[in-house]
Amino acid sequence: MNLQWYPGHMTKAKRMMQEDIKLIDVVIELVDARIPLASRNPDIDEMAKGKARIVLLNKFDLADDKKTLEWKAWFEEQGIFATLVNSKSGKGIKEVHQVIQEACKEKIERDRKRGIKNRPIRAMVVGIPNVGKSTFINSFARKACTKTGNKPGVTKGKQWIRLNKSVELLDTPGILWPKFEDEQTGLQLAFIGSIKDEIINKEELALQLLSYLLEEYQKNLIERYDILIEKDNKKLESLQVLKQIAKKRACLLKGGELDYGKAATLLLDEFRDGKIGKITLEQVKIKEKTEIKNSFN
Ligand code: G4P
Repeated sequence: MNLQWYPGHMTKAKRMMQEDIKLIDVVIELVDARIPLASRNPDIDEMAKGKARIVLLNKFDLADDKKTLEWKAWFEEQGIFATLVNSKSGKGIKEVHQVIQEACKEKIERDRKRGIKNRPIRAMVVGIPNVGKSTFINSFARKACTKTGNKPGVTKGKQWIRLNKSVELLDTPGILWPKFEDEQTGLQLAFIGSIKDEIINKEELALQLLSYLLEEYQKNLIERYDILIEKDNKKLESLQVLKQIAKKRACLLKGGELDYGKAATLLLDEFRDGKIGKITLEQVKIKEKTEIKNSFN
């Protein structure tokens, strides 16, 4: 996947999205539950002004359950409906219908007062590359009827998927460009594999990931790699931990020396596959009074 964004790409994506947004009632924004902010493009707030908003915390199967619920509460605090989804397995997909109805309550009420009956809610999916937009659309529309085809005059060239009596979904998602403005965001996108690995120093990336995991997810590291993270009451450095992983997993060069590059790739791959456990890379600061419901929807 190519995630090199240039001003030309951005302008084109923005223009297309602005056109599409005019046609819809509700914006369904997908984010990666492991990095709910770094996987957004905040410009969507401006672009989606006046529309109902939903955030789907997708890939929640890979993220820390407790933290995902905190993030859900955080989005709700911002006035955005949020729900948890695993587009790959279909978990949480059914609930999206409910959330759409809630998010569009005002529109439905407005229509009712004007005597407009059965006008479907129009929705579109947006998100940066690789957050799971296509997977979500496939999963969401699996049981849906056939595409409604072009609607002359109104939606020339657009395909709508009729999901049920009350919802239509634009079949092509809006692509938002990732924001690399600060180093931390770039790193987080790289951790989850959204930046081409060829342009990154993998060893450096693995060391940065290890340093985060050593702070927040020590238990996961110990369980997965059967390694020490402390010696003589002193915490080990990321490099010392990577060395142990290289040893344990026999990442060796021809002469028998440790192959740190191989160990780095192994760590990153296993993290991205969820093999190190359910891990969230961004922490949320929620207001104390916010009630975190102990459920997934
Ligand atoms: P995009 O349209 O936003 O660019 O994303 P796309 O649907 O292509 O999904 C990107 C990758 O994320 C795919 O993996 C997809 O299977 C995976 N994915 C999407 N939703 C989820 C989810 O909820 N949980 C998990 N664990 N993975 C998800 P891939 O490696 O490109 O393909 P494959 O592994 O499915 O073959």
